[in-house]
Amino acid sequence: MAIERVGVLGCGLMGHGIAQICAEAGWDVVVREVDQGTLDSGLGKIEKQLARAVEKGRRERDDADSVRARITGTLEYGDLADCDLAIEAIVEDLDAKLEMWREVDGVVKKEAFFASNTSSLPVVNQAVATSRPERFLGMHFFNPAQVMPLLEVVQTVTTGDDALRTGFEVGERLGKTCVHARDKTGFIVNRLLVPYMLDAIRAQEEGVGAIDEIDVAMKAGANHPMGPLTLADFVGLDTLAAIADVMFDEYRERRFAAPPTLRKMVAAGLYGRKSGKGFYDYSGDEPVPSELGL
Ligand code: 3HC
Repeated sequence: MAIERVGVLGCGLMGHGIAQICAEAGWDVVVREVDQGTLDSGLGKIEKQLARAVEKGRRERDDADSVRARITGTLEYGDLADCDLAIEAIVEDLDAKLEMWREVDGVVKKEAFFASNTSSLPVVNQAVATSRPERFLGMHFFNPAQVMPLLEVVQTVTTGDDALRTGFEVGERLGKTCVHARDKTGFIVNRLLVPYMLDAIRAQEEGVGAIDEIDVAMKAGANHPMGPLTLADFVGLDTLAAIADVMFDEYRERRFAAPPTLRKMVAAGLYGRKSGKGFYDYSGDEPVPSELGL
């Protein structure tokens, strides 16, 4: 089935980026949020990115206007009724996702494909909560979705050939490098990346190096674009802890266990860049390592 209209559930950190790249690829996009404030904030980020692209000469003004015109924000599930593909990027909470899919399944046309952008929850649990498990797959994007080249196309035990093929076709149209991943918690990237970030937190706890020294070491010593603690702040420490908990539940291995420092920071509302403070304090012009007092 040809994709013409894409629904995106959630206009937060990942949802706004997914909505933007789908509109840039030429599809009509309907993006749904739970409240007007969150929706406006996500659409505002898209607006900023498009304005910046015009300013830097990477995009013609008319072209940016067309991208903008292809995106409709809504608070109603019913507005997704005609979508050919619905991609969810809501909170990483299985109950919330299941409740959302029941609503979406009830209003979106039967031929449409459904995809979850979950970073760690098993996709099949969501697939079987809908009436179309064979048309359900995982499409795991990376933050920022506008920039990161990878898409993990995730096949569950129920995903049919049409759905899998559509996942790859959509990824290719988005200009992504697509990899085929099986529905195992964390898929490929988080299976490797999450223990790495958790280990960096343990290294800091054990006094191997200070926050900025650990980051500088991995940037300069391994050529990573961001050090692991900057990356943890970028992903969101609450999100990282939630992913670690799901992975630890699944695999029961210490490498997936959230270290005490991470738990304490999340309890204190230090979520990283999005809350203004995590391993770094973002209140000034440049991030500075936080005094954690732990
Ligand atoms: N949204 C949209 N575009 C963004 C952006 C954002 N949040 N952040 C940066 N960009 C764009 C900028 O506009 C810029 O484009 P331009 O040069 O054409 O204007 C380009 O990216 C480069 O940005 P900067 O020059 O400001 O900064 P950097 O060169 O340092 O790049 C970065 C920023 C791309 C974020 C880079 O630091 C990076 O690749 N970091 C690692 C990111 C990463 O590992 N992401 C994966 C996280 S794990 C994940 O998502 C999985 C999940 O399940 C947890």
